[in-house]
Amino acid sequence: MNIQSLLSTLTIEEKAGQLLQLAPFFFIKDLKVEVAGALRALDLSEADIFLAGSVLGIHDAKEMIAVQKKYLQRSRHKIPLMFMADVIHGYETIFPIPIALASSFHPDLAKKAARIAALEAQTAGIHVTFAPMVDVSRDPRWGRVMEGFGEDAYLASCFSCASVEGFQHDGIGKEGNLAACVKHFAAYGAPEAGRDYNTVDMSMHTFYNHYAPPYQAGIKAGAHLVMTAFNTFNGIPATVHQGLLRDILRGQMGFDGVVITDYDALQQVITHGVASELKEAARLAIEAGVDIEMASTAYFRYLKTLIDEGVIPLALLDEAVLRILTLKEKLGLFDNPFKGADALKATQRVRHPDHLATSERIARECTVLLKNDHQVLPLDKTRSIALIGPYVDESSTNGNWSWHGDHRLNETLHHAFARKGHDIVMAKTGNQATDYDRQDIDTLKQADVIIVCAGEQARQSGEARSRTRLDLPDGQETLIKMAKATGKPVVVLLFCGRPLVLKEILKADAVMLCWFLGSRAASAIVDLVNGTFNPSGRLPMTFPQNEGQIPIYYNHLNTGRPYRDERNEYVSKYLDVSNDPQLSFGHGLSYARFNYEDMRLDKEVMAINETLTITVTVTNDSQQAGHEVIQLYIRDLVSLPVRPVKELKGFQKVWFDPAETKSIVFELKAKDLSAFDQQGKPQIEPGTFDVFVGGGSNTTLSRRFVLKDVGIK
Ligand code: GLC
Repeated sequence: MNIQSLLSTLTIEEKAGQLLQLAPFFFIKDLKVEVAGALRALDLSEADIFLAGSVLGIHDAKEMIAVQKKYLQRSRHKIPLMFMADVIHGYETIFPIPIALASSFHPDLAKKAARIAALEAQTAGIHVTFAPMVDVSRDPRWGRVMEGFGEDAYLASCFSCASVEGFQHDGIGKEGNLAACVKHFAAYGAPEAGRDYNTVDMSMHTFYNHYAPPYQAGIKAGAHLVMTAFNTFNGIPATVHQGLLRDILRGQMGFDGVVITDYDALQQVITHGVASELKEAARLAIEAGVDIEMASTAYFRYLKTLIDEGVIPLALLDEAVLRILTLKEKLGLFDNPFKGADALKATQRVRHPDHLATSERIARECTVLLKNDHQVLPLDKTRSIALIGPYVDESSTNGNWSWHGDHRLNETLHHAFARKGHDIVMAKTGNQATDYDRQDIDTLKQADVIIVCAGEQARQSGEARSRTRLDLPDGQETLIKMAKATGKPVVVLLFCGRPLVLKEILKADAVMLCWFLGSRAASAIVDLVNGTFNPSGRLPMTFPQNEGQIPIYYNHLNTGRPYRDERNEYVSKYLDVSNDPQLSFGHGLSYARFNYEDMRLDKEVMAINETLTITVTVTNDSQQAGHEVIQLYIRDLVSLPVRPVKELKGFQKVWFDPAETKSIVFELKAKDLSAFDQQGKPQIEPGTFDVFVGGGSNTTLSRRFVLKDVGIK
């Protein structure tokens, strides 16, 4: 298809139509009756519908084919619609929520999950997914931390890249692949007070070093779309922010794909107080380089007028249409407008047993053993158990943003424990101690171990789900107290979409963080509880002692008055809690025990063009096989601007047989030691560095080296 010549045949209305994205019901419902209200609300006529360029959300192949057929019948130019949807962590086979995927510290699992999600979604004729969401966040009050990859830019970048590669696989023109959309540009994960959609204000130094890298990683991996964020960024709504979109995204980051707004974000430009009317919002957005307007009609209604009035050049509209038509071309839609839509293939592919088995395997690696006193776990099947709490018979383990995943098809913990042969003396759902009577307590005392199945509900994290208190909801903490009062060992299986305040929860003997692990959560969890598999997840986000510490994150600055001990009064500290988190970034236990020793550098002075090789000997000092996540951090001891006390620069997830010893090798080049300046340029500052290796960000195992500012021949 010759895109340029196609463009030349389009009227301005048709061009503006390509920038319009509507929901599918506009195309299949009775326009006179069911859709009339929505048409009026968007000030659209029936004819306008058949000028739109793309569709947000579609149910299945049948619906997609019907919509595309009707559209093409009514369209003069016959440019096919593009179908987009939020296939975030699975289509019908649901995988762990993204923050859980990040806990695996195994990006290839995210790639596999995205690949399967694409294979399933494509059978419904979906072409683009609004994923991965790569917004770094240091604030667990924000509900959408469940949808991102945690607090660290390096880790989030690894998962951003892996997800884009998984969705797009061997090219978006091929059946079974989806075009990825990196979102939300930019820094949506840093809303003030952790309140969704709230103001974002940060230095460009912080932006470039802690929030920008995962967007860049997704773009470098080939993402074909970027979605703008709802928030203002340093005073300007991201959706009309020329500095962000033209200078940084398209200029510095080299993105030449399609920019799409978030849901009616262009309309919100008025609410932000940046435009007095929709026509002004349209001008600001097209000048900023935004291509598709999701679910509002500023572009469709005003771009022609703005061009006729000479306010904006036609070229701005043409460049947006060209990017959209190019994407449709790359997707292969001109050759086959119904690409992928295949009801028969859907029955063969969606929720295929292999997909579900992969989801279970991934879920096992995303689970984090937070505490395990007296080796309460693993729990062999000879020990009887009592199951209490809201998640005993709850199948809602998919988490938010789980598209068409039907949680009613998921197994419950109760069923999984029984199916796998555990001796269950009691299984009773209840949110708090008052839900259990005297007889229940007596029964609890007959069990060898009490398992409290507790947590947030799936809808308590996700979009517009910010919380100021991060405790267990509905008084569930009373369950732990009640269980502890029996004197029996107590295990907590914790479901949540964000770091919680674990004060009461950690009074249990063992705590396993189960996030929301998707379609096969229960089976995966039970196999981890009974030791069939060994937990290997690590925290991608810091868990605070309480909400007052937020934001709290591992890669913080030292300050001029760091807290050292209680003798110094005038230092950076609180009067009521220590500066330490409850649990650190990178934390996670195993049933095995890993010892680190003999850390060595191949040089103590590194020239700017040399590679530093770090080796460490790791031994599994147990009879339990399992993965260890060996993490590498650096610290630049003297630099301007100042650098964090630790920065993750590498990790390896390594399998160890019982009693096995391995020599682990990392390599660092000067570019790995760099930081971005205020203009986003990488700066390498020679000087003294510490390099750390260990099983978490609180490791103290380190060696020192000097980076020289000269190269060697
Ligand atoms: C929502 C979300 C965005 C999503 C879009 C379409 O408001 O912010 O992530 O892709 O709307 O559903």
